[in-house]
Amino acid sequence: MNLESLLQDRLAPAFEAVAGRPVDPAVRSSPHADFQSGVALALARELGRPPREIAADVRAKSDLDGLAEIEVSGPGFLNLTVSDNLLTASLHEMAADERLGVPVTATPERVVLDYSGPNVAKEMHVGHLRSTIIGDALARMLEWLGHDVVRVNHLGDWGTPFGMLVEHLLDLGGDAEHSISDLTAFYQAARVKFDTDDDFRTRARLRVVALQSGDPRSRELWRKLVAQSERYFLDVYHRLDVTLGPEDFAGESRYQDDLDGVVAALTEQGLLTESDGALCAFPDGFTGRDGVPLPLIVRKADGGYGYAATDLAALRYRAGELGGQRLLYVVGSPQQVHFAMVFAVARAAGWLPAGVTAEHIGFGSILGADGKMLKTRAGGTVKLAELLDEAVERASAPEIGIGAIKYADLSGDRRGDYVFDVDRMLASTGNTGPYLQMAYARIRSIFRKAGTEPGPMTVTEPAERALALALLGFEAAVTAAAGSAEPHRLAVYLHDLAQAFSVFYERCPVLRAEPDVRASRLGLADLTARTLRTGLFLLGIGAPDEI
Ligand code: ARG
Repeated sequence: MNLESLLQDRLAPAFEAVAGRPVDPAVRSSPHADFQSGVALALARELGRPPREIAADVRAKSDLDGLAEIEVSGPGFLNLTVSDNLLTASLHEMAADERLGVPVTATPERVVLDYSGPNVAKEMHVGHLRSTIIGDALARMLEWLGHDVVRVNHLGDWGTPFGMLVEHLLDLGGDAEHSISDLTAFYQAARVKFDTDDDFRTRARLRVVALQSGDPRSRELWRKLVAQSERYFLDVYHRLDVTLGPEDFAGESRYQDDLDGVVAALTEQGLLTESDGALCAFPDGFTGRDGVPLPLIVRKADGGYGYAATDLAALRYRAGELGGQRLLYVVGSPQQVHFAMVFAVARAAGWLPAGVTAEHIGFGSILGADGKMLKTRAGGTVKLAELLDEAVERASAPEIGIGAIKYADLSGDRRGDYVFDVDRMLASTGNTGPYLQMAYARIRSIFRKAGTEPGPMTVTEPAERALALALLGFEAAVTAAAGSAEPHRLAVYLHDLAQAFSVFYERCPVLRAEPDVRASRLGLADLTARTLRTGLFLLGIGAPDEI
């Protein structure tokens, strides 16, 4: 049971009676009471009455049926104090439920979730790390809430660089497994040849044409390259304990046969304009600095298709064939305009019918200690594998190191940048992964010592009450995090819960208490452990029993 919405439902009729129209009571947890509503203050002007008077009126008209005490406080707040009965009944309901009181959604949606999206024959970089971690947390949460999540890994596996890469592979004898042990080295060697060797450049250009027209040998080499990269990405996913599998790869190449059709359909609807030989869409409301309309280039002047055309085809497929109702794209914020334009064109083309939403789930950058974009000492891009190695080496176990990296990424608002600081991530205090994992392991160790099972919970001490209220906020936290695609809301919740537990544990002896109290406190401890473990699982972070 979600206390917030329970109280909300109870107060709504009183607010409506007082305001003469439906009003959202906006019941929120508060440091001044268990819950608080400040809506009387917001209504003062509209109703032309002092807020305290409005609050008192709402209080008089509300029927809380003994579930909570209600008081007017300060300039016109309504403070709500939940009754002990409601609190314990809710706790027991939560404890008896495998899902900890979080119901499966009544309105399941098919969510097509685009995340990770690394590029073939290139090392994954930190941007892909963030997409992978955030996307996977969203996949876990949405799935757990009962949505039908289709994971898509929009691999960069097509385009002009593949002429150069296939040609280089051929020069090396054509054995991808043997030649591409180091993806970056392979890519860079091809790049150097392309930039310095005229003959190679010509061959690479012809190779693109051969590849795109389906030449079997070119395709075979290209497939080897893709397969080799996929193996490498799957290794990383495995290390990261991410739920993306081989069946989720749906690279850009998949949509190549649809691109002519995309252009034909857009042309027919009059959505394309020729501009310097290229075919462009100019969706409403997108202008550059000087007010000039911004183009979305659908077909380049040389007849080739690029990133935007592929995304249009992919979107049409996801909303159409796949039946996606909510399309999510977990991609760095620099691509915000790209996605906004793709969505606008798709909407205009009728590929995103009413009721189907497309959202760009943007995120900020990972910065180095100097506050600038993370770079190697030599100024190159930092390899993902090296970041993981560093954290794991310095942690006591891989689960701790990986958990620390994931938690650091998920615990702040995704739109913000953050500094990659292994010391801070691994710290056992503060808002970190290890802090939460330790809180969980500590509770497990209490049970190893207790030798008895948890019993019925009663809540008397203030610290018990605070812990109970924290526990009962789980549903609201998970729902909010999934609804707005903001994993940090769950992370912040878990951190608050761990802190409430630590205060409780400091003030309320568990193992030394009287049998009834002991059983009750063990019950609170057990429910805390289950909530922490479930919450960490939803973020994709392991919870070892011992650290
Ligand atoms: N491969 C792209 C990149 O590295 C990310 C793909 C994101 N997904 C998409 N549908 N465009 O930037």
